Amino acid sequence: MQGKLTIDPSNQIAKVDDRLYSSLIEHLGRAVYEGLYDPDSPQADKDGIRQDVVKAVKDLNIDLVRYPGGNFVSGFNWEDSVGPKDQRPTRLDLAWRSIETNQFGLHEFMKWTKQTGTRPDMAVNLGSRGIDAARNLIEYCNFPGGTYWSDLRKKNGAKEPFNIKTWCLGNEMDGDWQIGHKTAAEYGRLAHETAKVMRLVDPDIDLVVSGSSTREMATFGSWEETVLDHTYDDVDFLSLHRYYDNEENDLHNFLAKSVDFDEFISGIVAVCDAVKARKHSDKTLNLALDEWNVWYHSHKQDDETAPWQQAPHLLEDHYNFEDALMVGTMLITLLKHADRVKIACLAQLVNVIAPIMTTKQGIWLQSIFFPFMQVSKYGRGIALTPQQTADTYDSKDFKDVPYLDSMAVYNPDQNEVVIFAENKGEQAMDFTTTLNGFNVDHLEAATQFCGYDIKQTNEDQTMKIQPHDHVNVTDGVLKTQLEPLSWNMFRVSVIA
Ligand code: AHR
Repeated sequence: MQGKLTIDPSNQIAKVDDRLYSSLIEHLGRAVYEGLYDPDSPQADKDGIRQDVVKAVKDLNIDLVRYPGGNFVSGFNWEDSVGPKDQRPTRLDLAWRSIETNQFGLHEFMKWTKQTGTRPDMAVNLGSRGIDAARNLIEYCNFPGGTYWSDLRKKNGAKEPFNIKTWCLGNEMDGDWQIGHKTAAEYGRLAHETAKVMRLVDPDIDLVVSGSSTREMATFGSWEETVLDHTYDDVDFLSLHRYYDNEENDLHNFLAKSVDFDEFISGIVAVCDAVKARKHSDKTLNLALDEWNVWYHSHKQDDETAPWQQAPHLLEDHYNFEDALMVGTMLITLLKHADRVKIACLAQLVNVIAPIMTTKQGIWLQSIFFPFMQVSKYGRGIALTPQQTADTYDSKDFKDVPYLDSMAVYNPDQNEVVIFAENKGEQAMDFTTTLNGFNVDHLEAATQFCGYDIKQTNEDQTMKIQPHDHVNVTDGVLKTQLEPLSWNMFRVSVIA
């Protein structure tokens, strides 16, 4: 099998936004309680924040963390989560049919973002609530002081405003599972009015309006058109969500779903640009893919989980090696859309469909942790247009799928070109990258992630990124072999 990639610094997609490597923490299952916060764990600091989790989040180089949901936000009263802990109410969380104690809330989350070096991406409740709660929340968070809500923040221990920059206008409002689900017209009007009021409090915020929750929704496309008709001038991003599964246990069809992912993103870009044209607008709307991942292993277990527990085991997918390959190919797809996708949140971060899992004593890292960590760490700089040729295959749902998925990012600060390449085939592949227009110096590092059974999970922590020993770089051409079913990274030093 053969795969060839050609890149050139004059052929650029866009600068990769740091926010492409973001995530989501929802009050769901054990994400917050036992995940971020667990006063009973030996890993917790004096405030109950788990330091082993903090370290792993730092290792992932996460930028934004969307919070507090997800579906949870559509039934959430944010005021419940501030003030003295012993006075915070315990509530029913109707989204996940759990008990919410509010012992971890807004101030605790802000402390956690400081510890992890992340930034908040705060969602407001446009399900059970609306404009009033949103305007009060942003006044509480971002207004310096001298008003009821900002002074309450100070009284609760935060003298300085939180200055939260990025805000989501609700969550998946197109879905009938959502508390306060709305038609596109109802949501569009509400989002417009909420955006207006939030900007009156703080004009410097970035706003994300909710797009379709999946490509399969009957309203997909028309939802975006109607919502953007109402909000195009008010918002900075349109959100989209995408999860994939391998329920049918068909590896090649599963990995080919990156084709669907690519078409999904291109389709939403087209809808945004159609609205732009219709409105004769100068503004180009960018995308916030504020939930993406593999999600299906836990469905059956979730159906059997008894309701009304605190921190139940929900959505605890144990990811296997083929899931890591799927996440790898999704990351490459995201880089290919770096011109329009500026925010992308791996959903989620801890315990709930997550790269990081906790036990009372410690953490374990899932298979998907590794490709995400590498792209998040080294996929910084300028995404270069990949010119790729490769052998292809047909799967159940897709035709002419390349066995190779590859992408390169030029990092001028580090003087290096980083190549990510995935071999989706079960045979080794001769792989060549031609670095046109670069003054190539040497190969800085080469790694591979491969050799595991596709169904192997990582509870025993044996998975690791390995060195890739047989790589030749001569006259601006990198030549190597990609192992069957492998995720690879090559860092090539260039002279400026
Ligand atoms: O991430 C889990 C759930 O998936 C979120 O709460 C919701 O927004 C989506 O349907």
